[in-house]
Formats: sequence, C-alpha cells, structure tokens
Amino acid sequence: MYEARRALASPARTPRMAVVIGRLLGVAFVVCFGTGLYSHFLQEPLPWMRFPTRPALLYQVSQGTHIVAGIACFPLLLAKLYIVFPDLFQHPPVRSFLHLLERASIALFVGASLVQITIGLLNTYQWYPWPFPFRQVHYALGWVLVGLLVLHIGIKLPIIARFWSARGGAEPGAADATDVTDGADVTDAADAEAVRLWGSRRPSGVTGRLLAYIDATPPARSTVSRRGFLTTVGIASAAAVGLTAGQTFAPLDALNVFGPRKKGVGQQGVPVNRTAEMARVTASATAAGWALTLANGGVERSFSRAELEAMPQTEVELPIACVEGWSQLAVWRGVRLMDLADLVGADADASFRLTSLEQRGSFRQTEMGPEYVREPLTLVALELNGETLDLQHGYPARMIAPGRPGVLQTKWLSRIEAITA
Ligand code: HEM
Repeated sequence: MYEARRALASPARTPRMAVVIGRLLGVAFVVCFGTGLYSHFLQEPLPWMRFPTRPALLYQVSQGTHIVAGIACFPLLLAKLYIVFPDLFQHPPVRSFLHLLERASIALFVGASLVQITIGLLNTYQWYPWPFPFRQVHYALGWVLVGLLVLHIGIKLPIIARFWSARGGAEPGAADATDVTDGADVTDAADAEAVRLWGSRRPSGVTGRLLAYIDATPPARSTVSRRGFLTTVGIASAAAVGLTAGQTFAPLDALNVFGPRKKGVGQQGVPVNRTAEMARVTASATAAGWALTLANGGVERSFSRAELEAMPQTEVELPIACVEGWSQLAVWRGVRLMDLADLVGADADASFRLTSLEQRGSFRQTEMGPEYVREPLTLVALELNGETLDLQHGYPARMIAPGRPGVLQTKWLSRIEAITA
C-alpha cells in the first residue's frame, strides 16, 4: 500500500486540490439537480403546481444549463477521481465499521455519478443501450446522488473547511499527517514524514528500512504540476462545454461540434426529433377530413384547417426547446388557445388535455395548466417561419406555448378538451 501511494504521489493530488475540484463538481451536481427537477415537474406536475410562462426562454435556458453543467461534470469528475485515486490504497483498507460505511458510500457515489452522467449524455444522442426506462432511472439517481453528496460533504467537512481557502494548507508539506490518512494513527517521526510525503505509513522491517533509504533520496520530478493539472482540467471543461453549448445558446452556435442538433438544420429551419413517419400520422394528418375538436364538458365544436385560418391570427416568436437540451427560436402564427377556450365556454382556471393524431407514444396526450391556456403567447400554430406548418412540425396544427419542453408542444393535434375535476 505504502509503495503504491508513494508511486502515485503527485503535487496535483493534494487535499486542497480535491476540495477545489470538489467545489466545482458540487455546484455542477446541484445545478443539474435543480434544473432536472424543473424539467421533471413540468412534465409530471403535482396537482397544485403552476409554472411561470415568462420569460418565454425559461425552459430553453434551464434545460440548456442542465446539459451544459452535466457535460462539465465529465472532466470535473475524472479530475476528482484522478486526485483521490491513491486513497484506494489506504492501509488498512477498513479501520472500523464507520470507515467501512464511509468507503461504501463513496464507492456508491462514484458509481452512481458515472452512470448518471453517462446515461444523461447518451440520452441527448437518443441512444438507449440499456434495458431500463431512462427518465425514471435518471430521476431516481438524481435524488440518490444529492443524498450521497450531502453525506459525503458531511463526512469530509473537516478537510473541506481546512482546505476551502488557498491559505488553508495548500501545500502537501503544510498538511499534517491526519489530513492525508483520514485520521490513522501515526506513531513516530519517520511515519509522520512518510505520511506527509506519500499519504501512507511505511511498512515495517527490511522493506521499511529500504524504503526509508529511498525516501532519503529526492523523488523523481513529477510530470503533473498543480498548475499543469488545473490548466488541463480548465481546457477540457471549456472545450466540452464550449463545443456543445451552441445547441442551446445561439452566440456559440458556430462552435457547436458535439451537440446532436444544429440550429437552423431541419424542415423550415427547425430541427425535428419525432418525424411524422415515426409517429405514423402521415395519412391521418394529410386526410381531407381532418378537423380539430374543442371540448368542454358536453360542449364540442370542430374546426377544419380553413376555419381555423379564417379566425384572428397571432404571430409570436417562441423557441422549441427540447428536453435533450437543443433549442431553436422560430416565428409561429395561428389562433390563440384562449380564444378557442372561450368558444367552448371553458373556465378561466381550467386545465386542458391535448391529444395528438398519434395512436401510441408517451406524449400522445399531454396536459396543460391554466397558466399556459390563458397565456396570450400560447397558440394553436398553423404556420412556421412564414410558411404553412410542415408535416414534420405538426401539420395541420400543433401547440406552441412559452416555457414548455418540446415534448409537450403537441404536434398533429386532433382534440383539445377542458379537464373537468
Ligand atoms: C449529477 C448529474 C445530474 C443530475 C443530478 C441530473 C438530474 C436530472 C433530473 C432530476 C432530471 C429530470 C428527470 C425526469 O424528467 O424525470 C434530468 C433530466 C435530464 N437530464 Fe439530467 N442529471 C444529471 C446529469 C445529466 C447529464 C450529464 C446529462 C447529459 C449530458 C443529462 C441529461 C438529461 C436529460 C436529456 C434530461 C431530460 C430527460 C427527459 O425528460 O426525457 N443529465 N436530469
């Protein structure tokens, strides 16, 4: 153990560095959790929940931030693992039952973090090489991780407090033996020196004496300096974030290399996730007899596309903001949902259920709270970017509302009904 830790010692592997990277990682996790919860409750609101409809870019920014912070977790987590890797070789491996629990919780934390960020990333590419439902598992792991994060911070609080600021003992030489051994007893000066240098006590006997002799000679210059390490982590994080964030944040669009969707690429300049073919609606959406049914209790009215076109039209600029992080601002034209709600006498506080022509699919039916129904920007859209809505974007009519995930902006509408309690 001692030999392993001696071989792995590096100026970049200090408690202070673990705290510096841990702080950034903690922030990224909390941002991911907060924005993830927001996305979750937008899709599965509790009955009392109401959401802000302005600013209209809210979901675009929150989910874009989720993906950006999530992607930053990759270099930060790898950096953190690099720093604490020698701790794998603690000797003795388990000192007490509490120590066992601590090590087990860290192992779980690392494993769950790696799974969480990996499935999150693969989801943005719509690749699901696993047998479990992504959203449910990602959501549950979010809670598990936040719990383990709080536990981890609690356990490491003394070290975090000591090394929080640069003056708190940044140099390995400034750390006393207990910092690096997590409280292991250090019996004599030689041990203390070994612990200070390599984070582990010397073995006894001939090996120990031999290692003492080796320790007396200056170690080979480390190839990774603290500055070099931090620069590498900084460049890797900036590259991962900078080369993806353009799928959400327009000024970085030109740098968007890794993002699965490019702005402006797709029918009518807007990317498409679910095509009419995938949804199997090509025939029903182009059928001459298509009509949109509005319902409120016993009242039902149907409108052909020509009748909808003859109603007062409103033009709005709103983004399609996908749960996978990409988004695209576009100009939509159509009939205000609140006008249609009034035509069937819906209450001002009524929620609506939207049904697509799709026969199956998780988002065939979605619900919309009154804050969106009564929002003047919410349209039953008939046109996109100055043209008749393309079939891939939901022709003959689709929903578009501010601050909602793309999966809730129901395409190929067939029925809109007030939900009566
Ligand atoms: C510690 C890191 C992370 C935490 C705590 C976290 C947490 C969450 C939570 C709670 C949700 C809501 C799930 C739901 O709707 O039920 C979510 C959604 C999502 N997350 Fe993460 N996440 C993390 C990292 C990532 C990463 C690294 C990515 C991708 C790079 C990612 C991509 C996504 C996507 C695409 C969704 C939307 C899923 C959907 O609604 O279909 N997440 N995340």
